[in-house]
Amino acid sequence: MTDQTDRRSVLRGAAVVGLAGVGAPLLAACGDDGDAGGTPSSTQTSSAPSDAPSSAPSSAPSSTGGPVLGPASDVPVGGGVIFKDAKVVVTQPTAGQYKGFTAVCTHMGCIVAKVENGEIDCNCHGSKFNAADGSVKSGPARDPLAAVNVAVQGGNIVGPA
Ligand code: FES
Repeated sequence: MTDQTDRRSVLRGAAVVGLAGVGAPLLAACGDDGDAGGTPSSTQTSSAPSDAPSSAPSSAPSSTGGPVLGPASDVPVGGGVIFKDAKVVVTQPTAGQYKGFTAVCTHMGCIVAKVENGEIDCNCHGSKFNAADGSVKSGPARDPLAAVNVAVQGGNIVGPA
């Protein structure tokens, strides 16, 4: 029975080491996620070159099944609008060409903060994404913002279903 005793001792030792080892990473993870999810603020953020006030977006379902995010006229050419509640960023790289991406940064999950100079910027750690295709322009993010389907219907941006 020495074999069983030895196994129990080893298992007990492993459990103690395991508990001690689990605590530190959990604490580190809690302190490391910054303000993931973005700041509590309005439901959309428009950015340069035009930042005109908008009418309230309707949340009624559209014919495509996706929610109406807001007026297409709020999305400036060369800029974009971040719809925080829907976690979607819509850009208009060239007139009439609307692009949709997830607004959730691929680095650690913050909601991106602004669209400016052809870039979608995340303020949490400074990642920058190409506003035309979502690709990473500078890290720490390594992965692009995933494209999401958006459409213009009746003058409104309609998000993914
Ligand atoms: Fe780190 Fe966006 S969450 S750069």
